Amino acid sequence: MKKISKWILLLLLLFVLVGYMTDWSSSKEMPSVKGFENDRSQSLLSPERIVNIAHRGASAHAPEHTLVSYEYAQKMGADYLEIDLHMSADGELVAIHDQSLERTTNHQQLVSEMELKEIKELDAGSWFNQKNPSIAKESFDHLEVPTLTEVIEHFGNEANYYIEIKAPKLYPEMIDKLLEVLSAHNLLGKDRREGSIIIQSFSAEALQKVHNQDPSIPLIQLMKQPPKDLNTVKQYAVGVGINYKSLDLKSITELREAELLVHAYTVNHPEKMRQLLEWGVTGIFTDYPDVLAGILE
Ligand code: G3P
Ligand code: CA
Repeated sequence: MKKISKWILLLLLLFVLVGYMTDWSSSKEMPSVKGFENDRSQSLLSPERIVNIAHRGASAHAPEHTLVSYEYAQKMGADYLEIDLHMSADGELVAIHDQSLERTTNHQQLVSEMELKEIKELDAGSWFNQKNPSIAKESFDHLEVPTLTEVIEHFGNEANYYIEIKAPKLYPEMIDKLLEVLSAHNLLGKDRREGSIIIQSFSAEALQKVHNQDPSIPLIQLMKQPPKDLNTVKQYAVGVGINYKSLDLKSITELREAELLVHAYTVNHPEKMRQLLEWGVTGIFTDYPDVLAGILE
């Protein structure tokens, strides 16, 4: 009997020791963070305000880059409608992610090879139903590829647009055309509501060109990893959009201390969203604006 109690005592001691070591090691791995605050009274460009960027619309719920996907995003509480741009053969700005129409329509050519009226005839929704049968909707079939102008005219000047210049080398006229469309819809100049548009690109050259034409436009430099030279980015951009996988507390703190906004792309898991927010990001691109809105509440 005495022997058994000794073993029980030893086992108990072992449990306590293992428990203590586990706590100790996890507190070593997880840096201490303060949590996050989202001050919705602040401008969308304030570092105190965390922005919910609907990546290609609410693209987990509806076919990306369609008006329906953007409508869902608005209803789900997104601050920004994220729009990627390509150009049709006749020079119209089209809201679509890929250079090719193949993945998101029923046609295989490049956007740049087709005139707008041909692109408008394509079905930009059925692929989503085929890929996601559990959330498929008949109403998604035959949705159109929208132009930038159509998106802006549909959602008006109350919505906020986060527009990406894709492949600027492929489309030398894209920047002029973009500024022309924004200007025609009162989204440039002093009458613009603060934060109502952001222009983003992986191309520093494209962003610098926009900055030279209108230094008041807020620009986000997209990058796969945090920049080494923060000062260069600061000369033209208000912040950076970075792949969330390469962000951590240290890099986010450095960027925030340099007074850059930090928007992480593309984050779909709630736990990862929470962690990035606790580390100090000021915005998140997500296919699930509803999930992010729930966390930000
Ligand atoms: O624009 C930020 C993020 O959307 C970049 O990735 O490929 O989805 O445009 P991508
Ligand atoms: Ca994008």
